[in-house]
This record gives sequence, structure tokens and C-alpha cells, in this order.
Amino acid sequence: MPRSIIAGIGMHVPENVFSNQDLTKYMDTSDEWIQERTGIQQRRYADRKAETTTTMGIEAAKIAIERAGLTEQDIDFIIFATLSPDYYFPGCGVLVQREMKMKEIGALDIRNQCSGFVYAISVADQFIKSGMYKNILVIGSEKHSFGLDFSTKGRNISVIFGDGAGAVVLQATDDAERGILSTHLHSDGNGAEILAMYNPGTHGNHWHHFADFDNDDMGKAFMTHAMIDNDQNFPTMDGQAVFKKAIEKFPEVIMEALRINGLNPSDIDMLIPHQANLRISQMVQKMLKLPSEKVYNNIQRYGNTTAASIPIALCEAWQEGKIKEGSLVCLAAFGSGFTWASALIRW
Ligand code: UT7
Repeated sequence: MPRSIIAGIGMHVPENVFSNQDLTKYMDTSDEWIQERTGIQQRRYADRKAETTTTMGIEAAKIAIERAGLTEQDIDFIIFATLSPDYYFPGCGVLVQREMKMKEIGALDIRNQCSGFVYAISVADQFIKSGMYKNILVIGSEKHSFGLDFSTKGRNISVIFGDGAGAVVLQATDDAERGILSTHLHSDGNGAEILAMYNPGTHGNHWHHFADFDNDDMGKAFMTHAMIDNDQNFPTMDGQAVFKKAIEKFPEVIMEALRINGLNPSDIDMLIPHQANLRISQMVQKMLKLPSEKVYNNIQRYGNTTAASIPIALCEAWQEGKIKEGSLVCLAAFGSGFTWASALIRW
């Protein structure tokens, strides 16, 4: 059975750097609060017009494809993970297919938020193991800056998130010594409303004026002026509840991956945790008794880029020579859903 290797990796972040101090112009916050609670010093924001989730993803993809020694025409399938797609529908995958002038290959969008990239890698890995595809482009990209509440009311969320993209080419190999060893995917929908953006959606319970709606209102837009006036177009989060669950599930899903492969935490050469909060990463590191040089963090510079955070961190760790052939790399994520996931890779 073929295995999947990461044949090429790339990243792209917007040029526009936004410091914690810059945020104080819009909301009641401080550099001290943000650094102390999250470790974040700055983040990047996309150009509001010129850059989209798709265009950033494409920039990262071009680098990944070139580093894999391939061209766009060699790609057999596209998987695009994002929670901030260019359109409500269709997904970003088809936009990549069009803009990169690829063949009429399949394109799949994955909406699993912070664990979206690990889910995407897992899906790609199954296609490769089954022999269906040889080269799969997997992208994680987010343009959060467009959908955040920059008033003081939204500060617990808006200070955390940043924009950017990462991409890999997953490739089939017969080399039994390398590649993805296993992936582990989980969810608990009981936490669905704890970190969510309800609108635009068809549920209705989160519409401020829901009581005014009945079946006679057929044809009314599901996103109305009233919803926007009531700030119902922004994400909502109970940060402490997410934090508590994250520090439980991160170590659990990492240990699951290690156990299934007969390995121990000390075998990990590089842990790439989803960059949710530096305090979460540091607690996970402590629980697994890993030295600092074996855990990669760059949230200080980019904030939380959701589906893009793992491929961006993986790309930087690799570029800095911290991941070498034979390294045991562990990816782990937790976020909205709740969903969480891990992957073990022999580089
Ligand atoms: O990747 C997706 C998954 N998301 C996460 O993993 C997020 C996990 N959670 C967290 O990272 C943390 O809960 C936060 C960083 C979001 C918040 O930190 P916290 O230590 O849990 O703060 P808190 O929400 O308990 O708020 C403490 C205080 C509150 O004021 P009072 O009620 O004590 O007066 C907040 O209003 O801090 C206030 N606050 C802020 N103050 C300044 C909340 N946000 C801010 C802010 N600046 N940006």
C-alpha cells in the first residue's frame, strides 16, 4: 500500500503587520493583556481588496508545488481547509482549480476550523493509500480580518486571530520508512455553540428577530439588516471553556497517535501544535515533558490563523532546518466544533 509524504511545503502571509498597540486604536485592550494571556505580539492582515483566502492559498500552493518539483498540471486533487471562504458557496477549492489553470480535477473544501488542516491531511492520506491519487494539494488559508468585531465587545476574539496561508503537496511513495504513520480525528458537538459564527446560517435560533419570523415570511433573506445591526454577523466564543477542553484534548490525541504507533513523547522530534494560544502550547509541552526546542510556536508573530496555523508553523520549522529527513513530526489541533485531531509523520 502506498504511503503519503509531504513532497513540498509553502506558506504565504500578508505584508501588513498589525501590532497589539495598533489594535488599541479600535478597542479597549493593551499590549500587556494580549501578550500575557495569549503570547501574541503581532498578526498579519490581508489587503481588504486585493487578497482573499483563495489568493493567499494559491501563493502558498505555488511554493509547495515548486518545492515538490511538480507543476500545477501534476496535481490530481485539491483539498482546501478554511472557515473564511471567499464565498458562502462554492468553496475555495474550485477557485484554486480555476486560477491555477489546473485540469478538471476534484476539489473539496473542509470546514473543520482549527483542526481543518489535520482533517484535510487525513482525507488526502486515505486517497493516496487507496491508490486513487498520487499528488494532492492540501491548503489551509484564512482571511479572518474581514469578519471580526473590532469594537471592545469583540476584543476577546478579534485580538487572537490573524490572516495567512500554508500548503503542502502530499505525494504517494512506496518507501516504507517515511510518510504519514497515522491520523486521528475526533469531535464533540456538545461544544458546537461555544465557539461559533451562527450567521449566515439557516438554523434560526440565533436570529435576534427569530420570533418575528414564520412560514409566511418565505422568501425573506436569511441575513437581514437587523442581524447586522445587532452584530449577529460576528463569531462568538467562551474562551475559558475552549481553553479547558483544549488542554485536555491536545495531550489526549497526541498520546493516542503515539500509542497506536508504539512510540513515546520522547520519540517526537518536533511537535507542531495548532497555534491557538501560547499558554495552551506551553501547558501541552509541560504535560508531555517535551523540551522547548521540540515544540514549534510562532503565534507571537501571526496570531491564530486557524486552518493555516499548522502548515505555516510546519513550513517555518522546516525552513529553519528544525525538521530533517527521518524526523518524527507530530501535528495536533483543537478548536471549534469541538473538533480535534493529530497526525504522526516520519519526515
Ligand atoms: O483556535 C481556536 C480555539 N480558541 C482557543 O483556543 C481560545 C482559548 N481561550 C483563550 O485563549 C483565552 O480564554 C482568551 C485569550 C480568549 C481569553 O483569556 P482569559 O484569560 O480566558 O480571559 P477571560 O475571557 O476570562 O477574560 C478576563 C478579562 C475579562 O474582564 P473582567 O470580566 O475580568 O473584567 C474580559 O472582559 O479580560 C477581559 N478581556 C480583555 N481585556 C483586554 C477579554 N479580552 C480582552 C482584551 N483586552 N482583548
